[in-house]
Amino acid sequence: MRVKLVAGNWKMNGDLASNQTLLNAVLSAAASFSAMKCAVCAPFPYLSQVQQLLHGSGIAWGAQDVCQFENGAYTGGVSAPMLKDFGCHYVIVGHSERRAIFGESDEIVAVKFEAALKAGLTPILCVGETLTEREAGITEKIVARQLDAVTSRCGVKALGKAVIAYEPVWAIGTGKTATTEQAQAVHAFIRSRIAADDAAVASMVLIIYGGSVKAANSAQLFGMSDIDGGLIGGASLVADEFSAICRAAQPAA
Ligand code: 13P
Repeated sequence: MRVKLVAGNWKMNGDLASNQTLLNAVLSAAASFSAMKCAVCAPFPYLSQVQQLLHGSGIAWGAQDVCQFENGAYTGGVSAPMLKDFGCHYVIVGHSERRAIFGESDEIVAVKFEAALKAGLTPILCVGETLTEREAGITEKIVARQLDAVTSRCGVKALGKAVIAYEPVWAIGTGKTATTEQAQAVHAFIRSRIAADDAAVASMVLIIYGGSVKAANSAQLFGMSDIDGGLIGGASLVADEFSAICRAAQPAA
């Protein structure tokens, strides 16, 4: 039985005052979603604040990126052991914004994934196709390539210590959610591809969906058999929305 995960990805948003207001509001709603896993992934400078506010609560936290190197002369880099130092449980790797805007290749993403695991973090590995790729009918090929880059470097068992987030690029921040059927089909494809190598890992790995998830569409998405929760962008900045999405991930009573 997979316990669902809802993780907020704040992206490059927030400040000390608004983070505090947001987290206090989410914390006061947290008793209503205590049977699922909830996390927030904050910008690096706020990890200390998030750690202080969430420490001892049931809500985990993480970062949105990690440097592939462990320490040394890498100006501007933030390493996985540093994230661990701030109590991070999760780190997002391979978000499409990192891939597209910052030029991260499949290979770099795989090295970051490996660095995160080595430090004891749980990587949230993002995969997903662009609109052009979907229209060309190569969604599965793209997602398989992104997954395979990680498994060929780290082995399929490593996925058992990670979370996979399917985020169709065309659904991110656009208000266009994949239909539940479109999302379920890709999630099932990802699970079956992993199952071909390791059925036990496939049955336990969380595969969460991201792309314009809102309170209004979350219950339907999370009701699909291979959708184990969500990676939430814009709606994670609104306490009531985010809390309602977390409630939608609670197991049916
Ligand atoms: P939105 O929920 O704003 O579409 O963002 C999704 C996302 O990219 C989460 O990582």
